[in-house]
Amino acid sequence: MNTTEKFEYDIEFFNREKEKEEIMRILRAKPNFINFIYGPINSGKTTLITSLIDDLPKDKYAVFYINLRGKLIKEYGGFVRVLFKVKRKEISEKVIEKGEKLAKKALVLAGRYLSGIPIEKDMLDGFLETKSSEDVFEFLEEYFLKISEEKIPVLIIDELQVIGDLEINGKLIYKLFNFFIRLTKELHLCHVFALSSDSLFIERVYNEAMLEGRTNYILIDDFDEENAGKFLKKYKFKDINKAIKYFGGKPGDLRILLEEGKEINSVVQEKIAEKRRLISDMLDKLLYVKPKIEMEEGEEKIPVERDKVIEILKMFKDKEEIRDAGISRAEKIYLSGKNILFINPQKETIKIQSGIILTGIREILKEIDDNTLTIK
Ligand SMILES: Nc1ncnc2c1ncn2[C@@H]1O[C@H](COP(=O)(O)OP(=O)(O)OP(=O)(O)O)[C@@H](O)[C@H]1O
Ligand SMILES: [Mg+2]
Repeated sequence: MNTTEKFEYDIEFFNREKEKEEIMRILRAKPNFINFIYGPINSGKTTLITSLIDDLPKDKYAVFYINLRGKLIKEYGGFVRVLFKVKRKEISEKVIEKGEKLAKKALVLAGRYLSGIPIEKDMLDGFLETKSSEDVFEFLEEYFLKISEEKIPVLIIDELQVIGDLEINGKLIYKLFNFFIRLTKELHLCHVFALSSDSLFIERVYNEAMLEGRTNYILIDDFDEENAGKFLKKYKFKDINKAIKYFGGKPGDLRILLEEGKEINSVVQEKIAEKRRLISDMLDKLLYVKPKIEMEEGEEKIPVERDKVIEILKMFKDKEEIRDAGISRAEKIYLSGKNILFINPQKETIKIQSGIILTGIREILKEIDDNTLTIK
């Protein structure tokens, strides 16, 4: 996103034509569904959506992009504060006066989309005082209605899982989903996109009865081999085959390879060692503790069994993606929570989050004694 930063290579946004077209098709139609954008970690979900927003005609769409990443939202006030941005006109005018080039640029950038719903300070204070999410949603409905007289509002919430378990007189997420359904399916007022790289959250959403028939899912996966090759070739990367063999097509990892400018063998060794450590530490801990997993809310917790974890990992010995059905549930949830597994509820498959973790797992599997299940 930041095109001013100079790295060894100045890496530009690459490809994603198919996915962009899919999202543009949605934006051209009447808002009708809640759109969930999901995919493995570092696959480029945020980059894609922010790049797409940049290209949207500003006279036609009013985009609100709210990123919950890193936000510690524990109560109602925290939620309200991330939704809204108090208008700070005086400050922006001052900055322009100063004519500071960078600040000006930041303002131009801020004009691309709004990173919160702008309101007056007393209004925000009012919301914080009443402590009612109903008031907030009522206000927002009016707000989007007003905007829709001139432009098509687009509401994007990145890292939605952050508020997945937040309780405000009951689960906030259900109220939010109801509000999204109102904006889309009922009023056809505003496009809604929710992004998440938490595949457990997406699986929960996918199976949520209240969302049945009201959602649309868009997978932003790592690049396929062909595109990964083209991406690396664009920057004249030498060991393309080796890079793809170990790193797969994950944009985040390929980008590190390009930027670090180190010799590929040393990067590969370093990264594999890091992931091996992660996996062997996890297996080691499981010799001593049995974490418990809550599969359904309020139901009895199920302990994670080390041998079943190994059994799942072994399924990836010579496969990249396996069918979800029949996989031991508590262990699947455990491995997903550790960001080792990625669940695709649409395809009903699971795979390892990244090529480099897969490589680490395969190396460790070679060292596991089949009888004792200890690492040799
Ligand atoms: N199409 C692309 N072209 C070039 N670089 C990309 C592209 N997509 C992603 N990247 C790079 O990959 C890295 C990860 O991207 P991004 O943060 O968008 O992924 P994400 O899927 O949103 O990650 P997370 O799962 O953490 O939310 C970033 O450094 C980004 O610049
Ligand atoms: Mg992201």
